[in-house]
Amino acid sequence: MYQPVISGTGVFTPSQVITNDELVAAFNAYAELWNAENADAIARGEVAPKAPSSTEFIVQASGIEQRYVLDKSGVLDPARMFPALPERPDDAPGVMAEMALDAAGKALAQAGVAGTEVDLILVAASNHERAYPAIAIEVQQLLGAGGFAFDMNVACSSATFGIQAAADMVRAGSAHKALILNPEICSAHLEWRDRDCHFIFGDVATATLIERKEDAKGAHWDIVSTRCATQFSNNIRNNNGFLRRTRPYGMEDRRDMQFMQNGRKVFKEVLPLVSQHIADHMAAEGVGPEDLTRLWLHQANKAMNDFIGRKVMGRVPAPEEQPNILQDYANTSSAGSIIAFSQHSEDMTEGQKGLICSFGAGYSVGSVLLTRRAA
Ligand code: COA
Repeated sequence: MYQPVISGTGVFTPSQVITNDELVAAFNAYAELWNAENADAIARGEVAPKAPSSTEFIVQASGIEQRYVLDKSGVLDPARMFPALPERPDDAPGVMAEMALDAAGKALAQAGVAGTEVDLILVAASNHERAYPAIAIEVQQLLGAGGFAFDMNVACSSATFGIQAAADMVRAGSAHKALILNPEICSAHLEWRDRDCHFIFGDVATATLIERKEDAKGAHWDIVSTRCATQFSNNIRNNNGFLRRTRPYGMEDRRDMQFMQNGRKVFKEVLPLVSQHIADHMAAEGVGPEDLTRLWLHQANKAMNDFIGRKVMGRVPAPEEQPNILQDYANTSSAGSIIAFSQHSEDMTEGQKGLICSFGAGYSVGSVLLTRRAA
């Protein structure tokens, strides 16, 4: 058995930003248009008018202040309300592969590893731009990597479940150097016309490099252990899929073809699930709250993270102990906890411990316990 370590991480951040004020202005313009177009049905009481959104609500309910996206013009066009991404020819790199490659390059540079040395690539994300061939295999070719590659989807927990799968393979010897890539184009599955959720998501890609401890060239993180759990729930759901055209509604623009959630229920049900999951994982490793220097949590809601932080630490954690990035990136699905880890871990010193934890649709919860090892 080999000891798997994380020796590099990387984040690709799109260049375009949408602030809450820009988002709310576009939504409210769309709502006014919709209400005018449906004035007769509204007057007859057949449909309810669309109520306006507000920046104050968004910040207070979620902690989100802005989000990065691949295309803001389409999202902010009140007559469109979703991104406009050009189609690429089959012989050009796909957009998800391109984002993943950027993040992978940063992780490889940090670890001092060449792309050609990699022998396992997982593209672990909430959505994949096509059914096949796997985006991971496309990235493998673009990197000149060997071995094998495949896509996997565990929604918001794709990254942590990917880390567990790759760490287990490195531990067992079936892979030497593994890249877990999380390109998330959440803007394409978000329903920007629904004020209950239009503020939630952003786009990003993250990368994590795992290799054998004896191969690591500099500072790294021992993967002490990983823990994954799932429990079926319909409270976060998307009904779009390849059976769509076989159904009576065909290609109709139905609400459930985009992200849907019952946010209140998710909030109430996921909090105890996650708190217990982390407590059990730490107890199994004999790690107490006093042994934990940092918590890198899934980035969906600030109040949720504050609650989990209090539960795990048994006190209110200092902001640097439980860093949030959702104010800048919004919810980026599986990538959120990896952004927090990548951007808020360099200062940790030899022997300090930290825990990554993701949670979301499925439901799914994944945690990774790490120990810092100095160069
Ligand atoms: N602007 C103004 N008011 C809004 C609004 C907006 N954009 N969106 C909703 N409201 C209103 C609602 O209509 C509701 O009004 P009512 O009480 O008159 O019915 C009120 O504000 C509260 O809405 P609610 O949806 O209950 O808010 P919330 O406090 O639950 O916050 C979430 C919503 C989504 C931020 C929150 O539930 C959440 O983050 N849940 C967890 C989600 C999660 O982790 N998901 C994982 C996804 S990967």
